[in-house]
Amino acid sequence: MEQDIATTLLTQEQIQSRVRELGAQITRDYRDKDPIIVGILRGCFIFMADLVRELPFPCTLEFLAVSSYGQGTTSGEVCLTRDFPMPIEGRHILILEDILDSGRTLDYVVRLLRQRNPASVEICAFLDKPERRKVDIQARYIGYQVPDAFVVGYGLDYADKYRNLPYIGILKPEIYNT
Ligand code: PRP
Repeated sequence: MEQDIATTLLTQEQIQSRVRELGAQITRDYRDKDPIIVGILRGCFIFMADLVRELPFPCTLEFLAVSSYGQGTTSGEVCLTRDFPMPIEGRHILILEDILDSGRTLDYVVRLLRQRNPASVEICAFLDKPERRKVDIQARYIGYQVPDAFVVGYGLDYADKYRNLPYIGILKPEIYNT
């Protein structure tokens, strides 16, 4: 894997330090709210595992999976491929994502969950690529803003690989241009 990475964007130490800060911030805001934390599969899994271990208060963990079609095109349609049965009416929801890119995935998920009448819905995305935004959506918590480069690792994939890279790197162009 290493040989396919052009540069390291965020080291393991930078990631760990920022996850701790996010954990402290979320703890201040949610410690008395008994939130449901909803991870969006699959990209969220490493970030979620790290972040929830920084939360020293009771919370429920759930997962959604969505799939998008026509990425990079104007359609970018999103559909739900895995739901969870737990009722969320009156509950505080915090959605966890590895990356906020065009914003279509999170826009879809927020609309879906709001229909179920939760008390609140907020977003925590570890990475944010604001230059790529196609829909107007705000995350309350962001780990790092990153440039519009092909980033992989720490849960983020290219062609289903590199998710297990323990840091975030920029992929060499020859990998995705071939
Ligand atoms: C990635 C990422 C986000 C989404 C962000 O998921 O995990 O869910 O894209 O992009 P957007 O803001 O443009 O919607 P992907 O569809 O690659 O699936 P994955 O989580 O299984 O990697």
